[in-house]
Amino acid sequence: MQKDPSKKYRAFPPIHLPERQWPNRVLTHAPRWCSVDLRDGNQALAVPMNVSQKLELFQTLVKIGFKEIEVGFPSASNTEFTFNRRLIEEKRAPDDVWLQVLVQAREDLIERTIESLIGAKKVIIHMYNSTSPAQRRVVFGKSKDEIKAIAVKGAQMIKDRLRRLKGTEIMLQYSPESFSATEVEYAKEISEAVMDVWQPTPQHKMILNLPDTVEVAMPNVYADQIEWICKNIRNRDSLIISLHAHNDRSTGVAATELGLLAGADRVEGTLFGNGERTGNLDIVTVALNLYMHGIDPKLDFSNLASIIDVYERSTGMTVPPRQPYAGELVFTAFSGSHQDAIKKGLAEREKIPHAHWDVPYLTIDPADIGREYREVIRVNSQSGKGGVAYLLESEFGIELPKDMQREFGPIANDEVDKLGREVSGMELKAMFWKEYVDRKVPWHLLSFETESKNGIVKCRAKVMYNGGKPAEIAGEGNGPLAALVNGLSNITVVQKYVGERFEISNYSEHALSSGEGAAAIAYIQIKTADGKARWGAGVDTNIELASVKAVLSALNRL
Ligand code: KIV
Ligand code: ZN
Repeated sequence: MQKDPSKKYRAFPPIHLPERQWPNRVLTHAPRWCSVDLRDGNQALAVPMNVSQKLELFQTLVKIGFKEIEVGFPSASNTEFTFNRRLIEEKRAPDDVWLQVLVQAREDLIERTIESLIGAKKVIIHMYNSTSPAQRRVVFGKSKDEIKAIAVKGAQMIKDRLRRLKGTEIMLQYSPESFSATEVEYAKEISEAVMDVWQPTPQHKMILNLPDTVEVAMPNVYADQIEWICKNIRNRDSLIISLHAHNDRSTGVAATELGLLAGADRVEGTLFGNGERTGNLDIVTVALNLYMHGIDPKLDFSNLASIIDVYERSTGMTVPPRQPYAGELVFTAFSGSHQDAIKKGLAEREKIPHAHWDVPYLTIDPADIGREYREVIRVNSQSGKGGVAYLLESEFGIELPKDMQREFGPIANDEVDKLGREVSGMELKAMFWKEYVDRKVPWHLLSFETESKNGIVKCRAKVMYNGGKPAEIAGEGNGPLAALVNGLSNITVVQKYVGERFEISNYSEHALSSGEGAAAIAYIQIKTADGKARWGAGVDTNIELASVKAVLSALNRL
């Protein structure tokens, strides 16, 4: 990297727009959407889609609800041409869907493009040429007027051929490619020159697409450029102003949202942001961002998983795990405090299901896009006691007492830390069993019986100490547990652990779900004479035995 980057790079100059309006506006409705997956997305793939992959993706785009779909660059290859022909001849597009095709302002390409469209119901013919200073200088070596002449000539060539598309409803689109790096005054001049040829009207508008071909500035600058054009271009009411952002600075979504505030009517983009370099704008994110504001996006992502499936199969791309809304980890909470807050938010929602969505950390209800919060939750070493307890309870109905959560949380975190990865609910349960339920050393219960007379309970238990010979203990108290504690406290070896005596300081129990094969789990905390406290847990079909086992489990953990 440069020590002084200002010698090599410079910021994009700001747009003079003193009365800018966009910062004061809010979005209230969905724009017109155009998917460019089959063109801009496709041309950025290592292995471009074949015809059948394109057909499958096209069907998916239609199902999502796109009414404008850029299906390709028919003059660029046979595959592209054939795909277009198949869409038209096999009548694959519903009557309300526009097939958009891209073409450069060149006669031979325009000729072939028109040929590819014959018999179509509704088409958008999208012509572009590049307009930025760098493109004019480096790529074309032409002046502003010469570049404008290319656009005007191309527009005229298209106009002259429209009569060959009898019976087809036609919309025309022009893109001054690299618009965001072009002087706004020149972008206006060249766009108006194309408008002079195509003569759009408020009844028969043309699309003026203003691409952020390469993000060269902050998204507020793109918004200024869009507002500047909307305010200054002639016959604004005859135009559909369209946005087409790429994502070089990772602000494609922001640029689009601000561009909409600035007055644009339409958005071009791709599913999950596939496209050249860092990709095109991710339409799913912009649409669901509107949805989370309570605005109907007019695109249906209720089954995002099946859309991801088709997308990954047809493009060979993958959706990153942190991709907004779609990523595998988006509805996963790793931190304990997040998990706890989400748990409380979801519980509140159950009580007042018609209130507006306000669950901490979840911007939308995952169920609305076919996802589940519970399905993806996992625990890692940072999860904390809340997350650990939540997972045990939500997956296995194990309701750890609060104080026991404080004890088991750090134990589980240490284990997870040692593993160096996140763990599943099953693994967490196994840790809990190992730590509490399966503790049979040094004390192992072999049998336990009680009899009760005049409110006094007497117990006889057979226990094994460190795998040695079974020993009998007897005790009495006002209940079976008190009798057990009494019996154990009288044993010298026990006294070695607990001092003179120990007591039960906390107790709770509940039935386990049927899948566990055991009826109940008991949690018991014991406190020794010198104030040491330990939890234990026992599981048995008999609740009394579950409690007895829990006492020994706690004793074994001293
Ligand atoms: O990014 C771009 O500028 C394009 C144009 C062809 C619209 O894809
Ligand atoms: Zn593009």
